[in-house]
Amino acid sequence: TGMRVGIHDLAFATTHQVLDLRTLAEHQGIDVNKYYIGIGQTEMSVPCADEDIVTMGAEAAAQIVARLRAEQQAEDGQAFDGIRTLLFATESGVDQSKSAGVFVHSLLGLGEHCRVVELKQACYSATAALQFALGIVARDESEKVLVIASDVARYALDSSGEPTQGAAAVAFLVTADPALIEIEPVSGLHTDDIDDFWRPNHLSTALVDGKYSLAAYLRALEGAWTEYRSRGGVDFEAIDRFCYHQPFTKMAVKAHDKLSALVGSPLDKDQRRAQVAASLELNRRTGNSYTASIYVGLLSLLERDDADLAGRRIGFFSYGSGSVSEFFTGVVRPGYRDVLRTAADERALDDRTAIDHARYRALHEGIDAAQGSDYETAAETPGPFRFAGVSAQVRRYARTA
Ligand code: CAA
Repeated sequence: TGMRVGIHDLAFATTHQVLDLRTLAEHQGIDVNKYYIGIGQTEMSVPCADEDIVTMGAEAAAQIVARLRAEQQAEDGQAFDGIRTLLFATESGVDQSKSAGVFVHSLLGLGEHCRVVELKQACYSATAALQFALGIVARDESEKVLVIASDVARYALDSSGEPTQGAAAVAFLVTADPALIEIEPVSGLHTDDIDDFWRPNHLSTALVDGKYSLAAYLRALEGAWTEYRSRGGVDFEAIDRFCYHQPFTKMAVKAHDKLSALVGSPLDKDQRRAQVAASLELNRRTGNSYTASIYVGLLSLLERDDADLAGRRIGFFSYGSGSVSEFFTGVVRPGYRDVLRTAADERALDDRTAIDHARYRALHEGIDAAQGSDYETAAETPGPFRFAGVSAQVRRYARTA
């Protein structure tokens, strides 16, 4: 069919505290430029004691649902029936059985006639959610699918991954005739059973083979790109901007250099940078947000690129360790800027409370200390939703306003 399907609305949230990587570098006695320049990260978002993937995911999705309610003149207090599927992508899940999406469904007052499920495959699963959503809408163009990707990236204190922690969420609405970006049908896939990054059930922090994970990411890019081309995907020159999974922003730069070399692109270094630069700005300040990261990158690109991107094609490379990856493209819709919340997204970063090194470590250690018992969290977050604690072994969430 000739129907366009894609992303109609895209919203962002992060935690309400931040650690400047200068603080970490000073504590470690190293040159901060290893972080600012070497890995391309300046800050990382740190959750308050009462924030997690659910509170971030709900804060992102609430913006989309509020806009839909206003458009459909649905009343605030009443259940909202406009969304019949909610897909929650994460690799930092809060329960082994119940989907984090069910908590969000309740916090947002969505109607009971809705399927809600959580998806996991490291940082890749938001792209799986996008593909599943496109299928649902292609079958029935009246459907609206809400996708949430939300993660807290945690490595052990004093490990090599520590500076690449972070946290953020995106929510996006997949519909027919989308206002932001039409996703094109061709994609290239690559799966390989490897141990580059993983998190065993008994650990709250991820394990990683750092240098190997970089090589694995680049090899997967080549594999996914090659299949993308063999299935009739457009050539490199027909793609105007690129949006990569960003465990740290320098990784996207390395990936784009690799792909450019692979296709023998004549573009010089500055021209190549210009194809990815705007996509790095939000991630540089949130840190890794795993599943959300590539879509935080898309939002950053749409908000921060000076050029009018309407009608331009964006190439996406989504990578999830372990590993599963996909290359696909989308074309930006006319009028896309009217859909964005650029000032609010910048405020979400600027308004975070800076924390010192001792507080950061205490919060990091506090997560493990809390496992397994009932407890109440300290009321810290200024955000609209909070994780109130665990009672009778059940996680409790609340609206703050
Ligand atoms: N000024 C400027 N640059 C400096 C510098 C200074 N003073 N000091 C060091 N650098 C540069 C280095 O030259 C290096 O750059 P290049 O790679 O371009 O040569 C960069 O800073 C990093 O330095 P090191 O390689 O020495 O850093 P490290 O050994 O501490 O490890 C890391 C870096 C492997 C990325 C580590 O942070 C890590 O393990 N991170 C977690 C794993 C990860 O993010 N992997 C990415 C692929 S897997 C994936 O994508 C899934 C996912 O989300 C995790």
